[in-house]
Amino acid sequence: MTEKRVAIVTGAARGIGRVSAEALARSGFALALLDQDESGARRAAATLDAGALAIGCDISNLASHDDVLARVVKHFGRIDCLVNNAGIASPVRGDLLVLSPENFDRVLAVNLRGTVFLTQKIARWMVVNPSPEDRAIVTVTSISAGVVSLERLDYCIAKAGLAMFVRGLALRLAPHRIAVFEVRPGIIRTEMTRAAAPAYERLIADGTVPARRWGEPADVGSVIAGLASGTFYATGSVLNVDGGLGIARL
Ligand code: NAI
Repeated sequence: MTEKRVAIVTGAARGIGRVSAEALARSGFALALLDQDESGARRAAATLDAGALAIGCDISNLASHDDVLARVVKHFGRIDCLVNNAGIASPVRGDLLVLSPENFDRVLAVNLRGTVFLTQKIARWMVVNPSPEDRAIVTVTSISAGVVSLERLDYCIAKAGLAMFVRGLALRLAPHRIAVFEVRPGIIRTEMTRAAAPAYERLIADGTVPARRWGEPADVGSVIAGLASGTFYATGSVLNVDGGLGIARL
């Protein structure tokens, strides 16, 4: 069994997931980097350390989760942290009244269903394999878990569902010394936000984002690594990483 604590990061090939993995590595974690973009996960692993494990997996394919767990356990012998970061934007932005069931299903399949059942698999393993050390499951939802964006309500619904999952999981795992956290990023500069960047620039400039700047993946990564590393009497907590965007104003 590896001596280092082990973290699995989903969606680790780029963006918030990749930078979170780097922050976790700096905090002393060994890493399993999971992404549907397997070569991207391999490239990310190569920049971290020789011991990092890259796994190609589409988390919406529930049948692949057994293999993910088996590979991580075979490689490292332990799991101390799961970072649920993989997610997709709405395939089509548009009027809620013409939202298609196909697009709705895809967003829910990745952002909610895939995340829930991968987490279930890993959490079950953690419970069956107790550790003397504190462990953590950190799930990246979004400001959209609580704030409505009418043109992409499928995404908001998925993230709101995930927020409820985090609360339930926190209760279920509290007796097992597994802390469960939700991280809610605001507007973060990644591939996901590139297409809508001009609209976001306006929101940043006009003060809708009180911090008046983009969030960077490192802003989120450092919070995730802190939550994964600490020993806290906290669980079920929600961390907004949004420059104040989520604070309701009059
Ligand atoms: P990104 O699009 O840059 O990276 C997402 C990564 O997840 C990619 O490497 C992609 O291949 C992987 N991925 C997507 N679907 C997958 C699947 N089915 N199975 C495995 N891997 C999959 O996105 P970004 O911005 O880094 O987002 C990461 C997380 O943060 C997502 O859950 C997103 O919803 C959330 N978020 C992002 C915000 C932003 O402003 N960028 C704001 C709030 C939340």
